[in-house]
Amino acid sequence: MKVAGGALAKEMHEPAADEPLVELRGVTCRTLDGDVILDEVDLAVRRGECVLLCGRSGMGKTTVTKCINGLVPAFEPSIERGGSVSVCDFDPADCEMYELARRVGSVFQNPKSQFFNLTSSDELAFGLEAAGVDADTIEQRICETVDALRAEHLLGRNVTKMSGGEKQSLVFASVDVMDPDVYVLDEPTANLDAEAIRILHDQIAAILARGKTVIVAEHRLYFMADLIGRAIYIDAGRVMREFSPSELVSLTDDERENLGLRATDPTDAMNADCPPARTGGASILSRGLSLRGFTCLRNKQQVFERIDLDVPRGSVMGIMGANGVGKTTFLRALSGLERTTDGSVLLDGAPLARKARRRAGSLVMQDVNHQLFSDSVRNECELSAGSEAGRVDEVLDALDLSRLEDRHPMALSGGQKQRLAVACALFWGGGP
Ligand SMILES: Nc1ncnc2c1ncn2[C@@H]1O[C@H](COP(=O)(O)OP(=O)(O)O)[C@@H](O)[C@H]1O
Ligand SMILES: [Mg+2]
Repeated sequence: MKVAGGALAKEMHEPAADEPLVELRGVTCRTLDGDVILDEVDLAVRRGECVLLCGRSGMGKTTVTKCINGLVPAFEPSIERGGSVSVCDFDPADCEMYELARRVGSVFQNPKSQFFNLTSSDELAFGLEAAGVDADTIEQRICETVDALRAEHLLGRNVTKMSGGEKQSLVFASVDVMDPDVYVLDEPTANLDAEAIRILHDQIAAILARGKTVIVAEHRLYFMADLIGRAIYIDAGRVMREFSPSELVSLTDDERENLGLRATDPTDAMNADCPPARTGGASILSRGLSLRGFTCLRNKQQVFERIDLDVPRGSVMGIMGANGVGKTTFLRALSGLERTTDGSVLLDGAPLARKARRRAGSLVMQDVNHQLFSDSVRNECELSAGSEAGRVDEVLDALDLSRLEDRHPMALSGGQKQRLAVACALFWGGGP
């Protein structure tokens, strides 16, 4: 990369103001087996636009983002891309990644996958250092970003001690330090709590105010509704519809459900038909899970203490709370994966010791990549099914995975991987 006068020079041809900054024309992506992932996708995004990519999981949203940030084809050798893609007048398939990286910044679902350093300050400087920018300019760029994003609290921190929301803010700031023209975000809110989502919203608003172009693949429609210019609905690898923000928020529940889109209002996610869970009553449930005085220590500190809770069979309980309060630890403790727990856990009135909880429960983790081991969807399920192999077809079918049974688990979309982890979990803890 050429660096002129200590500043990051962008000496390439700039598209004229009315030309799209990002343009996909007749883009088709196929696997080496011939499966079509994207089918003749046309998409033109102008400078300063904010575009939402929405649609069911596995329909091609992430693949569109990867065509734009160049991960397809550079880092996906099993995907062949046809048609033309132009990003700031580059074709990501033909240019060096470092050239493209100056123009396109990416934020993914899992911030951990994007860290290279132990401290936040090193992380903020990393991209520019790698580009050979001088120390004064780097410092200046970091100051500008921190000011613009109101991110002073992120400086000088140990990355491993940051909350999930702070990590995602740091990734966003590290991308912003590079001052790209286009920001591509793939489900950036997936691991964030409400407050962190609000902060991310404000950060996106700040870069849009500076005339940047933003493309976001996202399930949470409500979080973006006031920022986007339009939403592109992708189904089976095709651009099927385009919505204005007002059309998007005025979809009826039925329309939204038919499109496989999530609620625009978070409270719509509650299901009134389930029997309610409640904080511990006087009597232990005879059918269901009861916790009494359930406590978990880590490094001699209480992560949570004396929780009393009753969850009747057939009910779904949501556990909410800010990033870092201990939701994951609670689930791990409940599943028998934390050593230092106290109090009692009872299933249908009978106490369950830690080891018994490991057999009785199934845990689908936040990052399901840690729990998929096999070389195909079917084999992964059979591995979990053990003596219940006869039910694999039924479970694959129930989770809409049958047509993917020969696919390698790592070549699934995020949502498909999660469904596979749920399919396997159905075989544990007493079978489906
Ligand atoms: N590397 C790959 N090899 C084969 N198929 C893939 C690969 N990556 C994604 N796919 C498939 O492409 C389809 C679209 O995936 P993706 O773009 O991740 O969808 P979304 O982001 O909408 O959930 C899915 O069926 C997925 O399984
Ligand atoms: Mg995706």
